[in-house]
Amino acid sequence: MTPQARPSPADPSAPTAAQAPRPEATPGFDARRFKAMERAGFNRIAARYADGAHLRAGLAAALLDAADLAPGQRVLDLASGPGLLAGAAARRVAPGGRVLATDIAEAMLAEGARRCAGETAPPAFAAADAEHLCLPDACMERVLAGLALFIFPHPRHALTEIHRVLVPGGLVALSVWGPRPSVPLIHRAQDCIARLLPPPRVPRPSVFRFGEPAALEDALAAAGFHDIDIRPCTFTCCFDDADAYWQAFLDLAGGVAEALGRLPETTRQALRAAITDDLEPFRDDSGRYRLPARTLIATARRPR
Ligand SMILES: C[S@@+](CC[C@H](N)C(=O)[O-])C[C@H]1O[C@@H](n2cnc3c(N)ncnc32)[C@H](O)[C@@H]1O
Repeated sequence: MTPQARPSPADPSAPTAAQAPRPEATPGFDARRFKAMERAGFNRIAARYADGAHLRAGLAAALLDAADLAPGQRVLDLASGPGLLAGAAARRVAPGGRVLATDIAEAMLAEGARRCAGETAPPAFAAADAEHLCLPDACMERVLAGLALFIFPHPRHALTEIHRVLVPGGLVALSVWGPRPSVPLIHRAQDCIARLLPPPRVPRPSVFRFGEPAALEDALAAAGFHDIDIRPCTFTCCFDDADAYWQAFLDLAGGVAEALGRLPETTRQALRAAITDDLEPFRDDSGRYRLPARTLIATARRPR
């Protein structure tokens, strides 16, 4: 087994995401292997990811509002997962609009196609790597990318592709996790993993690396976007018990879920048991857990 193939579930992000190293600059980082791990993980969790979408419904609605969708528009939902944004977008651009949902994980696309089958004008679903889109130039009025930019090994490539497929004047609307300390929904599980497991030999890119508005703005500006607007959007998830929290984390984290899924059952059980300690500060009077998550929603335009 090569160093890169070894399961490496812990996210070793530094406290401030803006200081996190670029993954391609990390010795031993292999983008192809990383994508394969993410794809396997998101295929593994596709149905459960879709079932857990209600936890992030407020974020999805805010992103769709920011995208300023209108009837007749052509929309790309990039890294769509099961097409939750795509399905809602298809209703907003009817009549006359069209939505294409693309993702690297085919089980996500199949899940989306199944769930949208009853719609009058469902989105089309197609497999595609966000860093290499098989789409013509200037073919979309809108691109959506929910909770995805930080997953790509080369986000710059994905942003360049988004810019290329947008018509001049077209708008991208995307969301990312905020700074690490503001997202206990994710980092509490990461803390538990880091406490119990040895550090990965090749660190994963941090999912918080665009959490500071300046980092996100720099990335969008470097890809040629104008009229950049970045706003916070915070939501809170409630869980009846620590086990429900742990399962929700696994149902959201593709590559990490894949890596943990390859560990022995006893190790996985130990992680599940240990998470209770990490969640203690988030227990309310009723004994339930309330974990906030800060995100950023960005819109940016391809210049005319
Ligand atoms: C956290 S999910 C977000 C799904 C959806 N956009 C949403 O808002 O719910 C991230 C998605 O990115 C996809 N993904 C990961 N790497 C990708 C890549 N290189 N190209 C396209 N999709 C990718 C995963 O398969 C997964 O469906």
